[in-house]
Amino acid sequence: MQQEKGILDKEKLPRHVAIIMDGNGRWAKKRNMPRTFGHKAGVEALREIIKMSDEIGIEYLTIYAFSTENWKRSAEEVGALMGLLLEYFTKELEELHRKNVRIRILGDIDGMPKGTERQQLALHRAIDRTKENTGLTLNIALNYGGQQEILRAAKSIALKAVNGEADPTQLTKEAFEQELFTHDEPPVDFLIRTSGEFRLSNFLLWQCAYAEFYITDVLWPDFNRDTYRDALLAYAGRDRRFGGA
Ligand code: FPP
Repeated sequence: MQQEKGILDKEKLPRHVAIIMDGNGRWAKKRNMPRTFGHKAGVEALREIIKMSDEIGIEYLTIYAFSTENWKRSAEEVGALMGLLLEYFTKELEELHRKNVRIRILGDIDGMPKGTERQQLALHRAIDRTKENTGLTLNIALNYGGQQEILRAAKSIALKAVNGEADPTQLTKEAFEQELFTHDEPPVDFLIRTSGEFRLSNFLLWQCAYAEFYITDVLWPDFNRDTYRDALLAYAGRDRRFGGA
């Protein structure tokens, strides 16, 4: 069915949107600025996208903030990203809480390296402060890897089996999903990646099994309400078959 141009139909919105916010570095380079300048602009873009997701009634928004591989970047860049993270959680927490947003972290917070203790504390505080909220669930993937997440779930189930708490022959998909960071959440409906790269980059490998992909050339700091609306309109036009005919 033809969508009226630019109008989002609530019935055709994804429940769960995931975003790979790529292109901060290239955005900065085009301006002859350091990469960290791009990340700062990226946080501004993120703020608007979270706001819009909340306003239009997206139930789950998962963003890829920092992967298990991102620690390999220069100390300067990692330091800047950790600084932005701390600032974000310090400044934005109360507003997000007022908006009834529930913050979850996907990833190993306590396994973050030495020197990130303040970040770890701020993350635990954000989760705790917002855990009873019933609005938008904002999943922030941080120190996250999709393969590591699946391995962690498998280990947990194996341990339960060894301890006689679970019968491995009776393991179901639903029981396995309870071991993932996204337990109790629906799978990803719509995956957006900015900056024109066609890669999943170890993001939500299990949860994206039937996700619709949307790749845009827009660099993350330029991603805004209009480009997000375009993406959601494209989703509304997709024919999802989940493997059926
Ligand atoms: C990818 O661009 C972006 C990242 C690795 C970091 C994304 C993080 C933020 C937008 C801000 C931090 C998040 C919070 C919650 C405060 P890139 O650096 O790989 O860009 P490039 O591919 O152009 O080099």
